[in-house]
Amino acid sequence: MYKGKDLLGLRDLGRETIMEILDEARGMKKKIDNPALRDQTLNKASIVTLFYENSTRTKTSFMLAGAYLGGIVQDLGVATSSVNKGESLIDTGLNIDKMGVKFMIMRHQMTGAAAVLAKNVRACVINAGDGTNEHPTQALLDMYTIYDYMGGFEGLKVVILGDISHSRVARSNAFGLVRLGAKVTLAGPSTLISGSMKALGVEVTSDIKGAIADADVVMGLRVQFERQKNMPFPNTREYSTLYGINSDLLKYAKPNALVMHPGPVNRGVEFTSNVIDGKNSVINIQVKNGVAVRMAILKLLYEANPDL
Ligand code: CP
Repeated sequence: MYKGKDLLGLRDLGRETIMEILDEARGMKKKIDNPALRDQTLNKASIVTLFYENSTRTKTSFMLAGAYLGGIVQDLGVATSSVNKGESLIDTGLNIDKMGVKFMIMRHQMTGAAAVLAKNVRACVINAGDGTNEHPTQALLDMYTIYDYMGGFEGLKVVILGDISHSRVARSNAFGLVRLGAKVTLAGPSTLISGSMKALGVEVTSDIKGAIADADVVMGLRVQFERQKNMPFPNTREYSTLYGINSDLLKYAKPNALVMHPGPVNRGVEFTSNVIDGKNSVINIQVKNGVAVRMAILKLLYEANPDL
């Protein structure tokens, strides 16, 4: 059974806990399309989202997940909040904590920000992405999608491609997928990947064609222009020529390989449009699964913390 107050990352999440979340998500999926099946699991518990960085998928899916399970959902609206008057992260959290809140869901540009918040507030904190550290709910929805299509993880070849060094998605997926028995390869330009990532139990390479060969899953990552101080490649055209995935390159993967991307996609940079919209792509299905996985996480944390 899920234990703990917060969900900060997958680094320390055990195999059984990950599988419990994925199995719980399976039961949640039917509530997305059928409002009659939505319920009061969260019994009007309050959920506040605090997004210090932009988001479409994560914030909206958490807000809907909370509403579908009978929670009261409020977005802080960081851009128009007193954060802009200089209020600190901890003071902001302490104030929100006093408002009868059960969950705080936060995205922040600083690595470790979710852990800082969690130490200082009573509410359950869910990390919706902290700097270049972790994005656990994205990795869980990615794993759920793989589980749904492939039926398991043992021995699957999962290739994660692109801007690895800035990617909290790559780190969380590496932690989780390796723990579940997948063979993970991180591939990208040498300026955007570090050999030290081998410590996560993954292969690291700049040979994109070799990485894709016989892959079961080809997961692209967004080039995070906003986190790059110096351009790590001459221009996006050169990036897409050398490291982007087109339909010819995808033929090196297994015929039924899943094409995945956390979004938002830079069309024509990480993947060509015919790959994004092609028969192997499950990118839009990942988004739907994100709602189910976030519902599962809210339910399990709610049940694990009856006294908060
Ligand atoms: N994948 C992801 O985190 O998307 P958003 O930035 O839109 O939340």
